[in-house]
Amino acid sequence: MAEKKQVKICETVLRDAHQSLIATRMTTEQMLPIVDKMDKIGYHAVECWGGATFDSCLRFLKEDPWERLRKLRDGFKNTKLQMLFRGQNILGYNHYADDVVEYFVQKCVANGMDIIRIFDCLNDVRNLQTAVNATKREKGHAQVALSYTLGDAYTLDYWKEMAKKIEDMGADSICIKDMAGLLLPYTAYELVSALKEETSLPIQLHAHYTSGVASMTYMKAVEAGVDIIDTAMSPLALGTSQPATEVMVETFKGTPYDTGLDQAKLSEIAKHFQPLREEWLKSGLMNTKVLGVNINTLLYQVPGGMLSNLVSQLKEANAEDRFQEVLEEIPRVRKDLGEPPLVTPSSQIVGVQAVLNVLQGERYKMPSKETKKILSGEFGSTVKPFNPEVQKKCIGDTEPITCRPADLIEPQLPKFEKECAEWKQQDEDVLSYALFPQVATEFFKYRKAQQDKVDLNVADTSTGSYPV
Ligand code: CO
Repeated sequence: MAEKKQVKICETVLRDAHQSLIATRMTTEQMLPIVDKMDKIGYHAVECWGGATFDSCLRFLKEDPWERLRKLRDGFKNTKLQMLFRGQNILGYNHYADDVVEYFVQKCVANGMDIIRIFDCLNDVRNLQTAVNATKREKGHAQVALSYTLGDAYTLDYWKEMAKKIEDMGADSICIKDMAGLLLPYTAYELVSALKEETSLPIQLHAHYTSGVASMTYMKAVEAGVDIIDTAMSPLALGTSQPATEVMVETFKGTPYDTGLDQAKLSEIAKHFQPLREEWLKSGLMNTKVLGVNINTLLYQVPGGMLSNLVSQLKEANAEDRFQEVLEEIPRVRKDLGEPPLVTPSSQIVGVQAVLNVLQGERYKMPSKETKKILSGEFGSTVKPFNPEVQKKCIGDTEPITCRPADLIEPQLPKFEKECAEWKQQDEDVLSYALFPQVATEFFKYRKAQQDKVDLNVADTSTGSYPV
């Protein structure tokens, strides 16, 4: 029998799974009753925060994301918590000054985060360094993700070189982040083998099921020596989400890769999410469209989330019949913009520009603000050069920047502190405000109104205790 090499499982049901399948609408209340049981499974980690959850809490659920993190930390006594962090964009869509990035990381760890997965949408490692340094300083685990994509520039040598840079910058582990489900089983075997040769850091694989190959990809990656795989409990697995936890556990049972997780205990957890799934299907929050196999993702290399955004954008413009044209325009726009991976925020930028190009009847007639920013170097450098004609048409004679974009941003915290002082009830509020000024202010107002209501009730019943 081959040498024993247990595969570890990172559970994504509390973050990516619901971000991918139900627009990030799972509430803290829906999570908390199952946390104790999840804590006893023996997961390597539970991914439960970051990505779009922060925005969604404030914007749609009227929850304080920091409060959610503290409650999860309280419940998960033995399990590491993991989050997704967009490098210099933090959890927003723009570049922030280093002081904001550093303070955000500090507060993540202080509120209970263990593993911070950091990525950059252009794979520009200069945009990762501040977050990695801050994580190390706070004694957190800094994982750097390669935003996986296809294209002429993305050779095995490219990925190996990037892995080396990540190791040199002091990261604790590497993630292959395949947000679109483009990584095929045999390619994964080659990629993991190559990275294993290049670096001694643990390697984690994160894939989406969108194109239907991810479970097979995990199997080949595990055979090539990948250390950790990201999976989601079956009621929130497959489709645009991750492969199912129970399926992967069963697949490796009795092999040298056995995860050691208990199928009976896992089924207890599935039982919690199953009725929620039924509810979401009934309300339409979970759309059967995202549950099947989407071959467009292989043809056009477009992540699942981006496809559903496009549909709603075209619907708003009363132009649903232009969907196919937009799909075909996306790879062209991507090439013009230096062939970046498609992941937040580059996926939105390319998607919006493709829609504009098609609907306006002339390419780059009206480039978006973000397209201009990319072409000005304000998101960092791309692996391929920009299309010079497109660049000229969009930004004219403006001189593009070549330094790390955040080097040009003055410290921002003092200004944010001042602007949100009126609403501040905890240190972390300034960070919510920094990322989403309008949405956070709306939330602060809502929070205050709720507290005032409680105050009134307290006064009415004369309990004398102050609500906390
Ligand atoms: Co993902």
